[in-house]
Amino acid sequence: MRTQVGIVGGGPAGTLLSHLLHLRGIESVVLELRAREEVETTVRAGVLEDATAELLRETGVGERMDREGAVHQGIELRFGAAGHRIDFADLAGKSIVIYGQQQVVKDLYAARLEASGRIIFEAAAVGLDDLGTNQPKIRFRRGAKLDPGAGEIRFGGDTQEEVLHCDYVVGADGFFGPCRNAIPTAVRKEHTRTYPFGWFGILVEGPPSTEELIYALHDRGFALVSTRSPEIQRLYFQCDPADNVDNWPDERIWDELQARLATREGDWKLQKGDIFQKSIVQMRSFLCEPMQHGRLFLAGDAAHIVPPTGAKGMNLAVADVRVLARGLAAFYSSGDTEILDAYSETCLRRVWKASRFSW
Ligand code: PHB
Repeated sequence: MRTQVGIVGGGPAGTLLSHLLHLRGIESVVLELRAREEVETTVRAGVLEDATAELLRETGVGERMDREGAVHQGIELRFGAAGHRIDFADLAGKSIVIYGQQQVVKDLYAARLEASGRIIFEAAAVGLDDLGTNQPKIRFRRGAKLDPGAGEIRFGGDTQEEVLHCDYVVGADGFFGPCRNAIPTAVRKEHTRTYPFGWFGILVEGPPSTEELIYALHDRGFALVSTRSPEIQRLYFQCDPADNVDNWPDERIWDELQARLATREGDWKLQKGDIFQKSIVQMRSFLCEPMQHGRLFLAGDAAHIVPPTGAKGMNLAVADVRVLARGLAAFYSSGDTEILDAYSETCLRRVWKASRFSW
C-alpha cells in the first residue's frame, strides 16, 4: 500500500491532520489501533479553546459542535469559600467550547470517510523503517486488539504484516504508541515530571451543578466541577496518586466534593447523579525533544503530555497538526521544507509554555 503521508494514530491529532491534508489535496492513510466504535464512545477530554473550535469551523467540521457544544464565556475560581468569576470574553475576547474529544473525532471520521479517506481501524504499527530516506515505511498488522490488563496488543485471525510506503510518517499514536521510540536515544531527550498528587475523576449521568466550570481551592485539596454535555458531568478532586478507587464509595465522593466546594453563605449545593466511571489520574508532564527525526514527525501526546490542570492536551495536539499540515502543504506545492524543518522548534516553544501553565 502506498500513500503520501502515513499517519499512525486516529485520535484527534491524526484524524484532524488527515482532514487538513485532504483539504490541501494531499493523500494520507490513518492506522488506528482501536475499533471505530470504541474511539467514538470513550469519554476523554472536553474543552476546546477558541483557536481549536475556530479551526474545526473553518474546515467544515464544526457544525455539530456549534449545535450541541456549550460555549462558556468564563470560569469561576472559588477560594476562601467565595467565588470569583473570570470573564474570558471581557478579558481576552475569547471563549471556550465544551464538546467531547470523542465527538470531535466522530465528526472527523464522518468527514474523512465521506470523502473516501482511508482510516484502517484495529491496525497496529509494528515498526517504522527507512526514516532517514525519502521513502519511509510503516510496517503494520490488522486485526489488533489492545489487552489493557496485560498492556499488550494481540492479533486475531491469520493477519500478516503489511507495509505502508509513504513520503512522510506522522506519529500521532499517543503516549504509549511506538513511534517516539523510533527516534534514536542518542538524539532523543525526554523530560518527565511526576507530581506527588493525583486527580480523582468521576463521570456522572445527571444534570449540571453550575453553568460554568468551577476551580476550587480548599484546605482539603483542589476540586473541579466540569462537564461534557447537558447530561454528562465531569468532576475531579485532588487525591493521593496511590489511593484506590475502591476506597471511595459514591457517598464518600459526594461528601468530599461538597466539602471542598462549599461557599461561605452555605448556599451552594452539588447536583448528584449516577456515577458511571471512577478513575485516578496521575499528574505528569512529559516532553520529547526533538519532535522530528528524518521523515518522522510526532504530534500530540506521542511527543508531550501535560497534566489535565489547564485542559491543554487536545488543544496542543491540534496546534501541532496545524503546523504540520501547513509544512506538508508547502513541501508538496513547491518543495519548500522550511516550515517542516522548523516544526519541532515551532511546536516545542508552545508546548513548553503550556507545560509551565499546567503545573
Ligand atoms: C475536564 O473537563 O476534564 C477539564 C476541564 C477543565 C480543566 C481540566 C479538565 O482545566
